Amino acid sequence: MKTVLLLLLLSTCRTSANSRASLKVIPNWSQFFEYEKITLSCDEITSGEWTVWRYTTEGLKLSDCTSGWGTESFSTCEMKTVKRSNSGVYWCQSTHGHSSNAINIAVSENPVILQIPAAPVVEGDNITLLCRTKNPSNRSADFFKDGTFIKNENTRRMTIYQASKAHQGSYKCSIGGRDSPSSWLLIQDDAEPPTLTPSPNTVQLFEYKNLNLNCGVQGWTVKRFTTFAKDLSSCKAWGQVISHGCVLHTTKQPDSAVYWCESPTQQRSNSVNITVYGRNSHQRTMSPPTEEDEHHPYDDAMADVTTEHSF
Ligand SMILES: *[C@@H]1O[C@H](CO)[C@@H](O)[C@H](O)[C@H]1NC(C)=O
Ligand SMILES: *[C@@H]1O[C@H](CO)[C@@H](O)[C@H](O)[C@H]1NC(C)=O
Ligand SMILES: *[C@@H]1O[C@H](CO)[C@@H](O)[C@H](O)[C@H]1NC(C)=O
Ligand SMILES: *[C@@H]1O[C@H](CO)[C@@H](O)[C@H](O)[C@H]1NC(C)=O
Repeated sequence: MKTVLLLLLLSTCRTSANSRASLKVIPNWSQFFEYEKITLSCDEITSGEWTVWRYTTEGLKLSDCTSGWGTESFSTCEMKTVKRSNSGVYWCQSTHGHSSNAINIAVSENPVILQIPAAPVVEGDNITLLCRTKNPSNRSADFFKDGTFIKNENTRRMTIYQASKAHQGSYKCSIGGRDSPSSWLLIQDDAEPPTLTPSPNTVQLFEYKNLNLNCGVQGWTVKRFTTFAKDLSSCKAWGQVISHGCVLHTTKQPDSAVYWCESPTQQRSNSVNITVYGRNSHQRTMSPPTEEDEHHPYDDAMADVTTEHSF
């Protein structure tokens, strides 16, 4: 019986690691004027139900497409006329808490914006940046990278030939003394995103345990979105940053959260939804059964495994 439970547990972990989708922005830009249309689409790499989520720049509000700001159909979310308040970070999330890469979108009231790819670009591609004005203009555009002037173009277009890691950075443009917002041009990482492995490797945990969150690679940051406070933050706010991840000492119930690893270019690993239970609340993990439990009868089995081996 124990063997069966362990096998179930192992297969669950494998499923988590492979559950992926990627967020596509149509058009493929990260800056927009107000009243333009944006379509966000979750391209499934594995099957599942995916919804577009966002965290807004103003007001720091987290919500999904069905909460009023978009029209959802088949893992696609359409925003017909965007406003400045739609600026923020967007990603796809599955019903089980797995998430895709994240993409920053800036909707500007500025008369000048920079048309720059929203998604990371492939190394070796030619990339054209366009400095757009709200009203027709025949003036030339200045382009800047990381705050430094690069060049002036009469056509208001600047092409980056054979993009390489050296071209990664923050770009903006300026026409007639009016600056666009700055946006990142990101170069795709060749490697597959890493896998977040929690230790102990379980999605249900009792309080006062140490939780080790291992990204398997250096340079990625462990982030979480908490179940109760709905707070999005990085390891340094609640844990100890270590070379390949994060250690959370003496877990408490408020540490219940969706955890993932994120690269400096906002690419994401799998996510793991970890729930921390109080020592006297074991009964509560069993009843009432949630929808999640009905889909995942092994959640309860895992709680039992945890209990048997840890206490
Ligand atoms: C994570 O799991 C908890 C408990 O099962 C659930 O209430 C919460 O909605 C889940 N979070 C996400 C983002 O799926
Ligand atoms: C977005 O555009 C860039 C540059 O045109 C391209 O390299 C990249 O593959 C595009 N991404 C998507 C998801 O369409
Ligand atoms: C990039 O532009 C150069 C010069 O116009 C051209 O020779 C090359 O084929 C282009 N590369 C790609 C990947 O489009
Ligand atoms: C832009 O257009 C205006 C009016 O049509 C003209 O006076 C001005 O010389 C033009 N400037 C440039 C840089 O072509």
